[in-house]
Amino acid sequence: MSQGLINMAYIGATILFILALGGLSKQETARRGNILGMIGMGIALVVTVVGLVTRNYELLFGAMIIGGIIGFVAAKKVEMTQMPELVAILHSLVGLAAMLVGYANFLSHAVEYVGVEKTIHDIETYLGILIGSLTFSGSVVAYLKLSGKWGGKPLLLPARHWLNLILLILAIYFGYAFVIETASGNGIQPLIFMTVIALLFGIHMVAAIGGADMPVVVSMLNSYSGWAAAALGFMLANDLLIVIGALVGSSGAILSYIMCRAMNRNFISVIAGGFGTGTSSTGPAIEVEGEVIATSAEELASQLTSAKEVMIIPGYGMAVAQAQHMVSDIAKILRKKNVNVRFGIHPVAGRMPGHMNVLLAEAKVPYDIVFEMDEINEDFPKVDVSIVIGANDIVNPAAQEVPDSPIAGMPVLEPWNGKRTIVLKRGMATGYAGVENPLFYKENTRMLFGDARDSLEAVFRAIDS
Ligand code: TAP
Repeated sequence: MSQGLINMAYIGATILFILALGGLSKQETARRGNILGMIGMGIALVVTVVGLVTRNYELLFGAMIIGGIIGFVAAKKVEMTQMPELVAILHSLVGLAAMLVGYANFLSHAVEYVGVEKTIHDIETYLGILIGSLTFSGSVVAYLKLSGKWGGKPLLLPARHWLNLILLILAIYFGYAFVIETASGNGIQPLIFMTVIALLFGIHMVAAIGGADMPVVVSMLNSYSGWAAAALGFMLANDLLIVIGALVGSSGAILSYIMCRAMNRNFISVIAGGFGTGTSSTGPAIEVEGEVIATSAEELASQLTSAKEVMIIPGYGMAVAQAQHMVSDIAKILRKKNVNVRFGIHPVAGRMPGHMNVLLAEAKVPYDIVFEMDEINEDFPKVDVSIVIGANDIVNPAAQEVPDSPIAGMPVLEPWNGKRTIVLKRGMATGYAGVENPLFYKENTRMLFGDARDSLEAVFRAIDS
């Protein structure tokens, strides 16, 4: 295959990847985005295999078939709640690939560089192996933590920031030694020392982060795996890998930042570790005024049928109760009765990015009635009934009213500005952040206690009767 054709195909694949990312930014276009990404990846694979590979086809196809089968089975088997684990372990493979390709590239001498070009190539190889190694070990620890095989508590070694600094200085020193030694045909020793340091750094970095912040870490490792791929692209002089790596690297970094903002975490503190112990740091006890008033499914049903504007706010409890199908049925029946039903989605509702959107899409809730927090927060004064389904932190007014609350400053949905709020949960337990929620005590709030699915089934029956 001519180089011109390969370049053309790579440009086509790059455009498809960019369109895929654009598509993934909205629910309505996410499926199309995925398909465009798959076509782009298909083109990239075929062109690389046909155009660049010249021998060892048995090995290549053997590995592709085995890898493909493992990937297919894993993706088929994985539960929605295990998705972050799967993503973490897949990132570890990108890191491992970058590390191994870096070594192969260093040892092969297929292309001999001289002068400045050689120095640049050596630095690329060194950085590729460094990022790859820390992505590999960090992702394995992230996988172990997410799957519960490693405790959620952050490992807080004494003087851990100093330890990180020493590891960084050592990595820079060995980088210098590597570039100097490769000039005389050596360099393997500093490379191995650096690899061990990077592996230890990856383990220490993720071990120091608590269970609560793991989703941020997974998206951060996603970003690292992108940069590792970009470094591979430089090593192999493959433009497509450089572009894809940069796309993954930057989108992962942006997602980590968005998640940190939505969880009211400081990005740097998450990376530095020690946050998110997952032990429900309740913060200062807050004085909550008012009383908790319970309601019944029948009462909620009659309020819903006489309402004009209904807002549904799903949270982690909806996922636990697997109540999304019941929610969808209720939305459908209310819409038939000319009630304007909308869904308000908080960016960190549930336990992973897009958790609620995926569940609602699975239950076939139309995309055009599902809104992001920023799109609908100002509409609450016009809402007759807001139903909060198994959500807690994301509707906690303490984020705005209690300056020293652990969630102070976290953006939240504001159902209390509407006429009536009904909260569906099993008891008075706190949410993920372990913070008391004054919403439950407000004058216009009613509590419908019980498992969300059971409660919604009763509401549906009452509306339907
Ligand atoms: P949470 O604050 O965790 O509250 C969930 C509530 O659901 C609980 O208070 C629980 O109360 C209730 N619940 C549990 N099982 C239920 C069931 N079967 N039926 C009815 N209710 C049930 O959830 P949220 O409001 O969605 O907030 C998400 C939290 O997770 C935020 O603090 C966020 O920062 C954090 N977080 C999010 C992510 C991402 S990326 N989404 C990642 C990590 C952490 P009862 O036990 O009384 O029923």
